[in-house]
Formats: sequence, structure tokens, C-alpha cells
Amino acid sequence: MASLQASCTVLSTHPRSHSSSSTQPLSARPSHLFTLSRRSDRFQVSCDAKKNVESSQGKIDRRNMLLGLGGMYGAANLLANPSAYADPVQAPDFTKCGDAHDAQTGAALDVKCCPPLADKIIDYKLPPFQMMRIRPAAHRASKEQVAKYEEAIRRMRELDTTDPQDPRGFMQQANIHCAYCNGAHDQVGFNNLDLQVHNSWLFFPFHRWYLYFYERILGKLINDPTFALPFWNWDNPKGMILPPIFDKTDSPLYDANRDPNNRGSAVVDLTITRSKDNLQLVANNLTAIYSEMIRSVSTATDFMGKPYCAGTNPNPGPGSSENGSHTGVHWWVGTKDTSGPNKLNEDMGNFYSAGRDPAFYCHHSNVDRMWTIWRDVLKTDVPKDITSANYLNAEFLFYDENKQLVRVKAGDCYDQRKLGYDYERIDLPWLNYRPPKKAAKAKVSNISDAKTAASVLPINLKKTVKVIVPKSAKGQADEQLMLQDIQTDTTKFIKFDVFINDEDDKIEELDRAEYAGSFAQLPHKTKNKQGKSSISLRLTSVYEDIDVADDDTVVVTIVPRSNGEYVTIGGIKIVPVPPRSS
Ligand code: C2O
Repeated sequence: MASLQASCTVLSTHPRSHSSSSTQPLSARPSHLFTLSRRSDRFQVSCDAKKNVESSQGKIDRRNMLLGLGGMYGAANLLANPSAYADPVQAPDFTKCGDAHDAQTGAALDVKCCPPLADKIIDYKLPPFQMMRIRPAAHRASKEQVAKYEEAIRRMRELDTTDPQDPRGFMQQANIHCAYCNGAHDQVGFNNLDLQVHNSWLFFPFHRWYLYFYERILGKLINDPTFALPFWNWDNPKGMILPPIFDKTDSPLYDANRDPNNRGSAVVDLTITRSKDNLQLVANNLTAIYSEMIRSVSTATDFMGKPYCAGTNPNPGPGSSENGSHTGVHWWVGTKDTSGPNKLNEDMGNFYSAGRDPAFYCHHSNVDRMWTIWRDVLKTDVPKDITSANYLNAEFLFYDENKQLVRVKAGDCYDQRKLGYDYERIDLPWLNYRPPKKAAKAKVSNISDAKTAASVLPINLKKTVKVIVPKSAKGQADEQLMLQDIQTDTTKFIKFDVFINDEDDKIEELDRAEYAGSFAQLPHKTKNKQGKSSISLRLTSVYEDIDVADDDTVVVTIVPRSNGEYVTIGGIKIVPVPPRSS
């Protein structure tokens, strides 16, 4: 079976247009399959995912159709240019929804998370603007706001018994996440590939739309069009505990499937360093957020996630925010006792069950807020919007507050104010949390056990690894570290941290000039158990802070925090930061 390197550099410059008021039958629209993509002359993003031409029935159908159209797309041309297949990821076909899978064993889960069927799909149009919903920080929400929130969730839970097929019910809403993340949906036209909304550029838009409808449903259930979902303000020290509104056992916001050690006054460990020192945890948290929002980011896809297009493998690579604080909160809240009944880290620690914890939506409200802050507030040299049609035209299906099945596009949710909500303004204490400059330049000769990349590749992370990596050029100050072909067991919880010229080895402390960034992944099931990802970490300000721009090489220290034995890194190199296009 030939495996071809495909990229989605070919873009639909004339994306499909749906007549906005029309309704569509539930199954995949035939027009999807006839859409031809064309090479864009204005913008390129590479998908760089491997795909297997022979094994995908959908792809062969597609090629036949292309051949039928003749012209320049001859067979030879197609085989030589597999990227001609590139298209945005399509909304799933609910009629083909299958079982979700246990992340650990790969067996079908004892849960059915497929959504109810509908007889039509409506292309969603934003309703006329009424009033802005202002999402409050959970720890600052007023009594009245909390009471409304509790009542709305209570009514949502009630639907589970009074009308289990109502798509607005609590379990139905939780199952949306399960179906989009644990292999229940295939990509339309590609039966051998899961539809996965994590570890790629679909992460932010999928969750924004998910919460948008969730919030509107809650508002509808209590007849309050101003209802706004609180956010868990874990980027501010005052919000770095589980918000107390989720911690009352008699509240509808409570969930029993959580780590019992991480409630009350326990400080959230976004970075999974497991430090026992609360002040160090806070410092690590602020450092990590500063890093994922500013320090390690060179391009829009560094922050938002790597390109993921129709017909390419899921999990091309998470963005810095998904990869960092987002995953840390899931891990921290979920159970850790794998001998008990929740051995899959339920609820928050596994994609299939995360939506069953009301705290999930409050957590994601902050994840969404971080996107807004990154895009609208931060003044950096990084372009903020991905403009590839393969991103803009990726589609999802949700049920709205009126139980209508609607189709939305990733590109239609950039501005949350147009979606009718905004966030309470709060201090951003991480904004200037740049680690202090190192007092004296590190002596690389003090770093024992450093090996050349050639002698350690592929790098297994059973234990800490130190690799000597050449800079792209002496004096080159604007560079990034590329970790490529990161192969993980996706059924395991994974985390590792990266440091540059670290002679001190204080690995519990991230608030140091040497810290360059992290990689993390929640357990999930894909058809290919081994996912391959890549990340890039910008080094520009690390260099400044440790004074190495004029050196020829640096030592990269990679510290495993969780399940390092299930990680290998196939490539490591330092390259100049690319010219500014997302
Ligand atoms: Cu869809 Cu935080 O995960």
C-alpha cells in the first residue's frame, strides 16, 4: 500500500456556497463530493499529513469523479500531486455515527454517544443581535448569576429523564464531545479516518461553537436571553482553584467523578510539574500561560493548531494553548486512581466523558477567552487569523436552542462579539510574566550527558534527554525549535517540557529563563493508535534571556512529566522563524 505525503496546500478559492436559507437533507450533500479544489495564489498552509490513497474508498470515489471531469486532472497528474485532494474537513454524517472507543483498550465503549437524527440540516445564520451576554469569572459571579446557572443546569439534567432524545439534555450535550473526539464519527468520504476536533486547528472553532449553542440552550431553558456561561479564571491566581460553585455536593454543578485531592483550596497545576509548593505552582502556571500566549509562538498555527484537512490523519499537532493550560486543567480535575471505577480518568481526564462535568464548559469558556485575548488584546508580531479556505470552510453540526440541527463553519466564529457574547474584563497577571534574565551565561560544558541529535534520534522519553542542536546560524536571534514526528501512544496521558542550556536542573521550576515550552496530550482513541504530531517553539526571547544568540549550538533538555516511555521524537532542529504568514 503506497503511502503518499499529502499536503493541503491546494485551497478552494471558491468555497462551496450554500444557499443560506435552504434546508439540506441529513446525509452528506452530493455537492461536497464534486467540489474541485484549486491552487490558491495568495496563501499556502501545508497539512503535511500522510494519507493512504489505496485504502480510502472515499478518496477513490473522489478521484473517479475528478477523472470524469477530465481536463488537466489526469490520473498521472493526480498521483503525482495528491494534494489535489485537499479540502476542508466536512461536518460528520450523523446517520453513519458508530461506537465510541475506550481510549485505553481500543474496545468499543459501553456508552453510545451518537446524536439523535434530524430530517434536515439548516445552514446556521446568526440571529439578529439582541443584547450582549457578558460571561463572568466563575469566582466573581453574583449570587443571582450562580442561581440562574444552577437552575439552567438542573433543567438540562431533568431532560435526561423527561425526554432523553431531546438534543438539549445534559447527556446529549456531553455526548457531542464524545462523538467528535473518540472515533464515533468518520470523516465524510474517508471511512478509514476519524473525525477528531483536538490536536489541530479545529480545536478553537469547534469548542467556540459548542459553547455558543450550549450557552443559548441554558438561556432558553430558563427563559433568559442574557444568560452567559461563567469562565474558570485559571490564568489569574484568584481563580487557580476549582471554582467553589462546582464544589458543593448538593449543587447541579457538582460532579462526583473528579480527583478528590484537587478540590477545596488545592492550587491547580496547569503544568503538571506536581510541585508541592503552592507558590511555585502559581509561578509555573503564570509562566506557562505567558509562554503559550506569547513567548513560544511564531505563527497563527503555533497558537491555534496545525492544519487538518479532509482526508488527512487526525492529530497533526496541537496549538500552544490546547497543548498547555487546557490539557493541564483536564488532567488536574479528572480522577487519577486507575484501580477504581473511573480508571479512564473520568470525567475531565478523558475526551469521551469530559462533557459530563459541568466544570468542563466553564473551563472551556476560559480557553475560548484566551483565544479572544490572544487575537484581540495581545500586540505581538504574530498574524492572528488563519486565512486558508481549508480552515475557514471546515464544518461542524450542532443542535441549537430550538432543537434544530444546524451546520456552522470554523471561519464564521472569529469575532465572539458578533456571536453575541463577550467576557468580563479582568487583570491579566501573566501578561508581563517573562522569566528573569539569567545572571551569567550558562556553561554548556557544565551540562553533562548531552548527546548529538544524530546519536539519539529517534528520542525516547523514558527519562530526561539532553540533545546538542546546532543553531541555524551564528548570530541568528529569531529562531524556533522544531520537534517533529512526535509519536505517542494516544491512549496515554502525555506531557513533557523543554529547556534550553539548562545547567541548573531545577525541573519543578518553570519560571526560569531556560524554559522554552511544553507538549501535552489527553488520552483518546483513534483508528491509528500511534498519532504523529509536531510542535514548534519560538526561542527568540529565550535566547535573549540566556544570551546565546551568538553561539553555534545549544543543548535542548526534554523532561518527561507523564508516560515518557510512550513518546518518541523523530526529528529535532532549529530553524529561523518563518516569514510572517499564518
Ligand atoms: Cu474538547 Cu478540553 O476538550
